[in-house]
Amino acid sequence: MKTENQDFGKNKYITKQEGSVKFLLHELDNGTIPSKSMNVFYNKRMELNRDISILAVIAYSNIVSQGSLVVVDSMAASGIGSIRLLKNTKTVEKIYLNDINPIAVELIKNNLELNEIESNQAEVLNKDANLLFSEISRSSALPDVISIDPFGTPNLYIDSAFKAIKKDKGLLCITATDTAVLFGVKPKVCIRKYMAKPLHTDYCKEIGARILLSFISRIANINNLGIIPLLTFYSNHFIRIFTITFRGKSKISKDLPKSYGYIIHCKSCGNRSSVIENLLKVPQKCPICLSEKHLSYSGPLWVGELHQKSYLEELNLLNEKFHFKNKNRIRKILKFALNEINMPISYYNIHKISQQLKLSSIPKLEDIIKIIEEKGYKASRTHFDFISIKSDMKIDELKKVLRQNEKLN
Ligand SMILES: C[S@@+](CC[C@H](N)C(=O)[O-])C[C@H]1O[C@@H](n2cnc3c(N)ncnc32)[C@H](O)[C@@H]1O
Repeated sequence: MKTENQDFGKNKYITKQEGSVKFLLHELDNGTIPSKSMNVFYNKRMELNRDISILAVIAYSNIVSQGSLVVVDSMAASGIGSIRLLKNTKTVEKIYLNDINPIAVELIKNNLELNEIESNQAEVLNKDANLLFSEISRSSALPDVISIDPFGTPNLYIDSAFKAIKKDKGLLCITATDTAVLFGVKPKVCIRKYMAKPLHTDYCKEIGARILLSFISRIANINNLGIIPLLTFYSNHFIRIFTITFRGKSKISKDLPKSYGYIIHCKSCGNRSSVIENLLKVPQKCPICLSEKHLSYSGPLWVGELHQKSYLEELNLLNEKFHFKNKNRIRKILKFALNEINMPISYYNIHKISQQLKLSSIPKLEDIIKIIEEKGYKASRTHFDFISIKSDMKIDELKKVLRQNEKLN
């Protein structure tokens, strides 16, 4: 992060626009590849993240908290996310925009002024996020919403965020961009950072999201809190989780078996199954191909639901109303996320399996879903991967379905 050249006036900024909001960016940052070394970080490709985050806070206000909100944007950079939130809703009473980078703080102040945001609606802070959370945790009024959007892993901020957030139905919004770690490209780093073994499989995006959720939930648990994920999504090399808190040691203990588990994967045939009880009871042989040496596992990971149906429905309504730039993509993500509820963990990459089976063409996913359902199994699309499907049908039977479908066409 550059700290020199702090003495820049408005003539060293350029004006940009995102959604309906104009904002300033340091002119030296314009057109550069988004990175930590920018004067103030801005990534146009993360607009989708900000679009969904705005809808997520409004949906939370509409159906969970039902009142005016106090929000902490702990890593605000240019402030664009929070300014767009303030411009799109009246439900936010106050936002604290924080960043450790003093150049970002200067820029946030200028961007608030440019957008005529009243000073009683937005306060700018220049602190380390953990220090900020620690100070908040000692105050009498805890915020309704905390957003954590760091470079890479959010793991260092989760514990202090749980100490700072409202204990009952507080909304935590957490981004992770260290997807190579969570998706199993760097397994040892994942064990170190998230205390869980990842798996670099076709469905590693869901495994990564579930490892992150498990980590967040365990940190909640040691703070005598539980979490209910409202929306968990992957896009453009990041995972963003929106989860609310709840209090209650007995509910947390009761929910343990429904929350954490493992996935067992056969690298030979691709069979997978989730284990929520005793890992030692798992057979040492793949039940489908009988291979003994190709069994692998991932976990501990979150085995509960990734989203809440009513929340996704509210998000959908808001998405149709707001006309953000990424409206169509958000509609697709939300539709497939809704389909994922009550479906088993993992998904099958139909393109890859079709190629392995040397099929002459790749079948339409909707046709395969229909055939699987006709055979009495569950099947759906998944937002994690647009060329994959979820199903409780086992891999050997799925392969039969794909071969038979090819013969019929
Ligand atoms: C990925 S950017 C945030 C992007 C921003 N939320 C947006 O939508 O444009 C990460 C920001 O976190 C800030 N940051 C990094 N470490 C921090 C810390 N320990 N406390 C507070 N801010 C931090 C960086 O200066 C940077 O501006």
